[in-house]
Amino acid sequence: MSIPLSNLTLSPATPAQILESHRRTYEEWGISFAGGMSMEQYLEREKRTKELECARDGKMQVWVLVKRDDPDSLDFLCSCETFKREAWVVHQTSGKGQPCTGYGIASVFTPVRNRGKGYAKHMMRLLHWVLAKREYLDQLEWPSEEWGEKPIVSRTEQEGSHGGDALFSALWSDVGPEFYARCGTGIREEGGWQVQDPHILIWNVGDAHSSTVSGEWEWLNEQEVHDLWKEESERMKLELEERARESQTSICTFLPDNGVADFLIDRKRMGWMRMEHVPEYWGIRHSTARLDQFATWTIERRKDGSWVMVITRLRGDAEAIIQAIIAGFAKKHGVSAIECWGVGDTERDDHLPCFKWYGPERSTLCFNEK
Ligand SMILES: CC(C)(COP(=O)(O)OP(=O)(O)OC[C@H]1O[C@@H](n2cnc3c(N)ncnc32)[C@H](O)[C@@H]1OP(=O)(O)O)[C@@H](O)C(=O)NCCC(=O)NCCS
Repeated sequence: MSIPLSNLTLSPATPAQILESHRRTYEEWGISFAGGMSMEQYLEREKRTKELECARDGKMQVWVLVKRDDPDSLDFLCSCETFKREAWVVHQTSGKGQPCTGYGIASVFTPVRNRGKGYAKHMMRLLHWVLAKREYLDQLEWPSEEWGEKPIVSRTEQEGSHGGDALFSALWSDVGPEFYARCGTGIREEGGWQVQDPHILIWNVGDAHSSTVSGEWEWLNEQEVHDLWKEESERMKLELEERARESQTSICTFLPDNGVADFLIDRKRMGWMRMEHVPEYWGIRHSTARLDQFATWTIERRKDGSWVMVITRLRGDAEAIIQAIIAGFAKKHGVSAIECWGVGDTERDDHLPCFKWYGPERSTLCFNEK
């Protein structure tokens, strides 16, 4: 029997609960990862994640749905993670770009014994109430009779560092479009995270004929792509203002600097370190067009054992860039396909980008690739 929702609340996890949440998620994301990780490797990776630029200084938080009368229990009902990110917004009213805070949500997990009781749904609904800016939440009705007291934003020692300031939040759904869309700020099953632009373009490396790459391309290592993302973030801010002029809505974006895009490579490190030819390069840039013509990527191993490159940012002539990557990199490293998200006409059915905006007006999340 499920516990009444009013007896439950969302709480920032204690260190012991964080460890327990990682132990639990191992069965979902550790065993199946790129040919498998041991529990020790998985826990080590999670520990290391907390020290990365995108997570440290309170930017990452594990949340647990707990009984109000036993908030520190290791028998919590479900858990998830949030990553606080510097983001950029152009409000339709002003047309000028400005910084804002957005949150990326990950690792939503209910252990099998607790599934089907509405716990994950409730956790996600409460998450809005800890992440969103107070001024937006103040306009909303809190269903106190059904849900009891509001959750607290954070433990006192972290006050102000995580939550209570989001203009938007986003996640990539592997459980279809409905589940997160139904997790809104109230009882009605609507107004949650909406799928936005789940398109994909795929190049099969085996189909490509190109085998030589001209000298006009530069290959970029991890440090070089890190440096490139700083510059690129500045360009994205300017481009957002340009796009806002044609847009009917406010528009916003996450930015790839401050370790956000680095994380996409690092997260998969234990996988690609097992490739026969361990990749040294994570980006390509045209030597004269430079930031007008470049791509960056990460590499994932799929369940069938194949290696897939996912483009994390691309600017310029996609076809020319992809052909250069195929000829100069993908074939050599045994990459079977290159995926570019957020472009093309094909809709994918997993990793669906889902977006929740907390402001009063309508908005769109831009630069929605990986
Ligand atoms: C997805 C998951 C978190 C759902 O947890 P849960 O606590 O069982 O979910 P709830 O009981 O709150 O379900 C709420 C609703 O979502 C639906 N739902 C649950 N899991 C779903 C899934 N995998 N796909 C689609 N819908 C799902 C339920 O049917 C339920 O609908 P109802 O209200 O009409 O009965 C859980 O199954 C899980 O941990 N799965 C493995 C990890 C995972 O895939 N996480 C999501 C990554 S994006």
